[in-house]
Amino acid sequence: LQFKEQYRPQYHFTPPSGWMNDPNGMVYYAGQYHLFYQHNPDSTVWGPMHWGHAVSKDLVHWEHLPIALYPDSLGTIFSGSAVLDQKNKSGLGTDNNPPLVAIYTYHDAEQEKTGSNQFQTQAIAFSTDSGRTWQKYKNNPVLTNPGIKDFRDPKVSWHEPSKKWIMSLAVKNKISFYSSTNFIDWKFESDFGEQVGAHGGVWECPDLFPLEINGEEKWVLLVSINPGGPNGGSATQYFIGDFDGKKFSTSQEEIYWLDYGTDNYAGVTWSNTQNRKIFMGWMSNWDYANIVPTENWRSAMTIARELSLAKVEGEIRLVSRPLNNYKEQLTEKKFEWEIKDQNNFLIKNVSEWTEIDFKSPFGQNQELEIELFNENEELLLFKIDFSKQEVSLDRSTIKRHGFSKEFKSLQKAPAHFNKENMKIEIFKDASSLEIFINDGEWVMTALYFSNNELNQMKISSNGKISADINASSFKSIW
Ligand code: FRU
Repeated sequence: LQFKEQYRPQYHFTPPSGWMNDPNGMVYYAGQYHLFYQHNPDSTVWGPMHWGHAVSKDLVHWEHLPIALYPDSLGTIFSGSAVLDQKNKSGLGTDNNPPLVAIYTYHDAEQEKTGSNQFQTQAIAFSTDSGRTWQKYKNNPVLTNPGIKDFRDPKVSWHEPSKKWIMSLAVKNKISFYSSTNFIDWKFESDFGEQVGAHGGVWECPDLFPLEINGEEKWVLLVSINPGGPNGGSATQYFIGDFDGKKFSTSQEEIYWLDYGTDNYAGVTWSNTQNRKIFMGWMSNWDYANIVPTENWRSAMTIARELSLAKVEGEIRLVSRPLNNYKEQLTEKKFEWEIKDQNNFLIKNVSEWTEIDFKSPFGQNQELEIELFNENEELLLFKIDFSKQEVSLDRSTIKRHGFSKEFKSLQKAPAHFNKENMKIEIFKDASSLEIFINDGEWVMTALYFSNNELNQMKISSNGKISADINASSFKSIW
């Protein structure tokens, strides 16, 4: 049966078959969220990239649609974005029926073989039937390559004050900004990032958008990096600063990570959602994405998350709150418990969603452990050590990790979240765990591949804990 294979997520987006990586072209239009994705339909490993396509009304249930963009003589189709050209500035639609415009990277593998550095260029395609079919622009590419090998992943958004489309582009170890009024002529504006941020690998998949905090506007720049993530391989960092239509600037010195886990990469936000910024990432890591033990299909997306800014330990941080839609759309059964001054608590039948709302503060030397396990001695251990201010996730005790040595290394992260009235939410699916602290002040996303379901959960501490626990099973979306 389709979508019932071992490890197949039951409420995360996956392609019907074949390979998937980055989410692409995310745009909301006419009541539907479009999700395109890096796709190799002919194999379960990375290869010639297409844009796969699906739509959703609630970001939870997905309808798979035919492949939207196929490789052609200019190259294969790498990552990019899509927007509504409301005023038909591109001239690719009409005033009454404005086009959706997709901006993507052509990757010309044939040219790469010749030793040229100019094999990545930016191109556009458009749709005038609500995203059902896509036509490539006849004079592609719209932005040629200046001689830089890594020149890709255009994310375009409208900048109202300067009345221009701004393209954020990943260029090797920095982000370049370009502007345009018609999607066809692009002007270089500025570069950002050579002197700041994490640089353990190449920069990819940027996203630039404003968010408000206490009535003040800040600009957020997401930058994925591979390798060089905090727990090895791929990860997404972010910068908080200002953008004036030409230049992004920040006074940030520390490196901020969107997610401390190993498996949330290349994520960006939907366009045309007004003030809401809804994010989805690729739930894998280039360290082992091609060899995880799934058959028939490879990779899933994270759950959708709503991004906002909030003060965390006195600093402004980017917060990723899981969309309520999952709980609203999928809840099947609900369990509730109250624990009072206990050292541990066992949940015998773990649900897809568990929330632990702590009613008492943790002591300075306290530790909190959450074990997910089964009778087969498979165990995932999530731990917060309040004396070291450190969080960790150990998946080495899940037997099936032999496919990759990187997979079993201990994941660690600083405990950067508000410590009073802490709330931990765990989204568990057939092969993934997404842990949110305090509605997304701190996030860790990680894959796991256990032989049997991890059907028990033990919450324990070396001190007393009091908490309300809620859990719900989710219905499958397939
Ligand atoms: C990120 C990435 C992008 C590129 C795409 C190719 O995961 O490497 O930079 O466009 O994947 O599939």
